Order: sequence, then C-alpha cells, then structure tokens
Amino acid sequence: TGMFTYDPGFTSTASCESGLTYIDGDEGILLHRGYPIDQLAEQSSFMEVSYLLLRGELPSKAELEEFTRTITRHTMVHEQLTTFYRGFRRDAHPMAIMCGVVGALSAFYHDSTDINDPMQRRIASHRLIAKMPTIAAMAYKYSVGQPFVYPRNDLSYTGNFLNMTFSVPAEEYVVDPVIEDAMDKIFILHADHEQNASTSTVRLAGSSGANPFACIAAGIACLWGPAHGGANEAALNMLREIGTVDRIPEYIARAKNKDDPFRLMGFGHRVYKNYDPRAKVMQKTANEVLTKLGVTDPIFDVARELEQIALNDPYFVEKKLYPNVDFYSGIILSAIGFPTEMFTVLFALARTVGWVAQWNEMISDPAQKIGRPRQLYTGPTQRDYVPVDKR
Ligand code: CMC
Repeated sequence: TGMFTYDPGFTSTASCESGLTYIDGDEGILLHRGYPIDQLAEQSSFMEVSYLLLRGELPSKAELEEFTRTITRHTMVHEQLTTFYRGFRRDAHPMAIMCGVVGALSAFYHDSTDINDPMQRRIASHRLIAKMPTIAAMAYKYSVGQPFVYPRNDLSYTGNFLNMTFSVPAEEYVVDPVIEDAMDKIFILHADHEQNASTSTVRLAGSSGANPFACIAAGIACLWGPAHGGANEAALNMLREIGTVDRIPEYIARAKNKDDPFRLMGFGHRVYKNYDPRAKVMQKTANEVLTKLGVTDPIFDVARELEQIALNDPYFVEKKLYPNVDFYSGIILSAIGFPTEMFTVLFALARTVGWVAQWNEMISDPAQKIGRPRQLYTGPTQRDYVPVDKR
C-alpha cells in the first residue's frame, strides 16, 4: 500500500490517547474514568457523570452542587436564537434544526471563546451542556406548534428538560419521577463512547482550532446517520413495521440476505463483539418503565423475541451481532411520549458531554495536531489539458 497505511473506516487506527472511556468489545465492558457503565447508570446521575467525564474524578457533594448550579446558570438561550426556529418548516426533522441552531450558537459566542484559555474552554463546555436541553425542547415545541417553555432552574437537569418539552402554559405539569429517573439513565448511557464517528468528527473539526459550538454542530450532523445515532429512530420504526411476532422470521431472512440492503437496526457494533453493556441496562429499564407506567406496548414483545431469534441464529452468532444501545432505548422514549424523530436529538443532548470532554482533552494534549489523513491516489496520472473544441 505504498507510503501510507490504508485503513478505510479506521478499523485499526488509534487517532489519539484518551483517559475518558475504556471499551473492551470482546468482553462487553464499558468504563468511564474506570467506573463500569452499569454502576453509573444504576447509582449515579447525569450531572455527576458529566462532572466525572469533564474533570476526571467523581465530585464531592459540595462540588456536585456547585457544578449543577453552574450548569443551571447557563440554561437560558439568547432570545435572538428563538428566531432561528421560525425559519424552519414545522415538519423539519429536529436533527436538521439542531444542526442549524447549535451551529448558530457559534455566532453568539465567537469572540468570547479563546480555545487556548482553559477557563474559556470550561465556560463554552458548560454553556453547551446547559443549553442543549433548552435547544432540543424548543425543536420539539416548534414541531408540535406549542409555545417555547423557558428553563426552570429549581428543577433537576433532566426534570427541567422534561418540563420544557412536555409542559404547556395552560396547565400545571409535574414531572413524573419514574420518567425523570429513566430519562436520566438514558442520558448516562449515551454520555460518551470513546472515538465513535461523531466524537471523531468533533475532534477533527476542533483540531483546526474551530469554534467549539460549530464543532459540536459537526458532531450532531455525523450522529444523525442511521448507522450511528439515527439507529434509535430507525430501530423503533423497524419494530413498528414488523408489528407482530409472527412477522419476525421474514425480517431476519431479509437481514441475512446479501442482496437485500436491509439490516437489523439496533444490532451489531464496530467495537462490541459481545452484548453491548448499555443495551443490558436499557432492556432492564424498558421493562421497569413500562411496568411502572402501566404501558403495554406490543413492540416490546417483538423486540425481545427478535433478540432471542437473532441470538440463536448462526448468521448473527458467527458475525457476533448483538443488540446495541439503540435497540431498546426507543421503546422507553416512545413510552415517555417522544415522537421517533426526537430520539436522535436526545442522543445528541446526552453525547454533548462526551463531545466537549473529548474536545477539551484534545486541545489540552500537546501531542495533538490538526487532523489530516492521507490517501492512496487512484485517479489518472498527469495529462495535458485539451481545449473543449478538440474533445
Ligand atoms: N444486520 C444484519 N447484518 C449485519 C448487521 C445488522 N444490523 N450489522 C452488521 N452486519 C453484517 C454485515 O453485513 C457484514 O457482513 P459481511 O462481513 O458478510 O459483509 C458484517 O456483519 C460486518 O458488518 P460491517 O458493516 O462490516 O461492520 P461495521 O463495524 O462497519 O458496522 C454497524 C457496524 C453498527 C454500522 C453495523 O453493525 C450496522 O449497520 N448496524 C445497524 C445500525 C445500528 O444499529 N447502528 C448503531 C450502532 S450503536 C451506537 C450508535 O448509535 O452509534
């Protein structure tokens, strides 16, 4: 392969050193700063995990309170930002709105963001984590034609997000603790996942010294694809399309057919060749939430049956294809009341923590240079220009 290592899709290239997240794909292990994901999901909170990812250690009680207060202080968005929404069609995909509005934030915080100053990087990080729920909830409100709801800082990070999404001025809305707890868990499960496509995009964009708000918008664009964060929306749409348990074999057969581009959405992973540890927690949470809310969704039965059939099918066994984080999340989000188009937005909201933590780590790393992959040229060799009337 000549002068350069040819590695399409970066299946064997480490682009950086990182102390944030460890994955052992063969064993199905995921650790954030050393802590197992299931322990964090069951016992911690999204604010605490955010602190852990950004600062490296779990906070003391006082540190967590101070951090939460700081994030809370930044939850409002500039009133001028609300006008961006009105430029979109009401039926625009909310991920398109997220790309646009988060990108627009770079214009609001451009001159004030010196990325070489650690304090300014910290403020930009806090702003992004704080404003993402507000921006996401506004995207939802715009799509359903309801008025924007301003943030409320007496609520938790996740409670405030649910309130901005589901409350209306006409009546009192109280956040259901079961829903708040499940949502917080989902945020934790999506907070970071080392050098996935969107995180690598944020790092690559950031490596040129670009504005952090613009870099996060780039990450959102990458996350949207159905092979990445868009899979949660695609997975639920697929389960609804299958509809009943008796139709599963037809879809399994399609997934195995080389001539059919169809894939089981929410299945398979570049790194996990074992059960995705996040999917385990997600399945358990789906069970709890549906039971506690008294929701019966036939889709959950379809999902569990599909999983069983796939896990016992030689095709999926040989290729080591297991359910990933996106397989069960949609069932919970749907029970909470989110339309499928919002699923990837929720992923983006939570992953923003990982993106900014990784971005900070990259900027602080003296070994990091501008990201500039090389290529293996396959085009024509040098030739002379021919005027158009001679061609
Ligand atoms: N259904 C059927 N076959 C599959 C699937 C699937 N979901 N996933 C992979 N395969 C097959 C694929 O056809 C290939 O077969 P062969 O070697 O015979 O050509 C083999 O398994 C390896 O697949 P690959 O596409 O070469 O592997 P990859 O590491 O490039 O892709 C993936 C990983 C996640 C993009 C892929 O598994 C996929 O498309 N899954 C469905 C989408 C999905 O659920 N994405 C979410 C990922 S989890 C986190 C996140 O949201 O980002």
